[in-house]
Amino acid sequence: MNVFEYRAGQLMAEGVPLADIAAAVGTPVYVYSRAAFVGPLDELEAAFDHIPHLVCFSVKSAANLALLKLVAERGQGADIVSGGELFRALKGGLAAGRVVFSGVGKTGREMAEALSAGILMFNVESAGELALLSETAGRMKLKAPVALRINPDVDPGAHPYVATGLKESKFGLAPEPAGELYLKAARDPNLEVLGLACHIGSQLLTTAPFLAAAEKLKNLALKLKEAGLGLKYFDLGGGLGIRYREESPPPLTEYAAGLKKLMAGLPGLTLVLEPGRYVSGNSAVLLVRTLYRKENGGRRFVVVDGAMNDLARPSLYGSYHRILPVRRSGRPEITVDVVGPICESGDFLAKDRPLPETEAGDLLAVMGAGAYGFTMSSNYNARPRAAEVLVDGDRFRVVRARETYEDLVRGE
Ligand code: LLP
Repeated sequence: MNVFEYRAGQLMAEGVPLADIAAAVGTPVYVYSRAAFVGPLDELEAAFDHIPHLVCFSVKSAANLALLKLVAERGQGADIVSGGELFRALKGGLAAGRVVFSGVGKTGREMAEALSAGILMFNVESAGELALLSETAGRMKLKAPVALRINPDVDPGAHPYVATGLKESKFGLAPEPAGELYLKAARDPNLEVLGLACHIGSQLLTTAPFLAAAEKLKNLALKLKEAGLGLKYFDLGGGLGIRYREESPPPLTEYAAGLKKLMAGLPGLTLVLEPGRYVSGNSAVLLVRTLYRKENGGRRFVVVDGAMNDLARPSLYGSYHRILPVRRSGRPEITVDVVGPICESGDFLAKDRPLPETEAGDLLAVMGAGAYGFTMSSNYNARPRAAEVLVDGDRFRVVRARETYEDLVRGE
């Protein structure tokens, strides 16, 4: 679904001209479309309709409470990786019983918080973590629900920073030691073994690696069943890619068909998915305003008021985000670098980008900024973080106020 489209030469978010939002709220601002966010959530429900499943939206991709509320309203759950994300998920109205907790470095305090909240399960990533979880649960006189995160050693063909299922990565446990750890966990009175989990990487553009990983997990699941373990959940993580430029991610139906076939061989198990980007990626744009144009050493720069602190992906991963003028000008295209005010040459939103000639004051929309956009933003260069706006039809509201200078020094 594309809800960010031109109408009469004006780029819109659903029924609202982006220029109106910039005028009311200022820039830089993240503008989310409700329709673009809930569309994929509903498509996921429909695609897995006929098998037991639970969609746990990955909070790290986009964590505004207004968005989490939309997930909660659908009876869906959350994938979290920190106590802070648990706090957010619960504030957003998500049921603790639908929260899965992943991550290689859970602290005892985070475990205790999640145990008191009553989350669905901990996706445990090491023997040390399992021991601490058992100890923590024992002290609290609770039984910790556990899945082990398996590292299936599958190459997802993703950017090295976001490939997580290769055997030399820090994530998960190799299937062999995991088998032993499962048996140990099953004997532990403080633990309840509930399932298996994996997450092999992000922005995957084919279904093959998902199915290869799922197949490995399935083999382990069958062995564990034979050994008498009562498993309930089969968590395949997130990772489904989206289109930023010319990518052709697999259609959801293809992904779902493969997984449904696989799950048919695992009766009694509920499929858990942890999509982040697939849901949030194309749900927002980052709206910025042009400050200056300049030329140095033959390169042309468009200096805008949004920067790497607002959207880190281009600087950090060399990611491509389309950039569209908010008002179609009909001016000729020239090749420019779109850069921010931060004092680093690595501060850019686009390099060598053909864009219609841009003048000071012009608004630009950085597309596909919904996932890992605001959540990765920082206060670097003492820049207050951007506002967030949610559009619904022809109305919009600020769902996170722009930070103030006072916010910058709070706690100092
Ligand atoms: N589950 C786990 C355990 C994860 O680590 C992640 C993402 C997800 C689910 C959601 O993955 P998704 O469906 O969004 O691909 N900052 C990077 C992406 C980092 C992904 C980290 N883990 C980026 O901007 O591309």
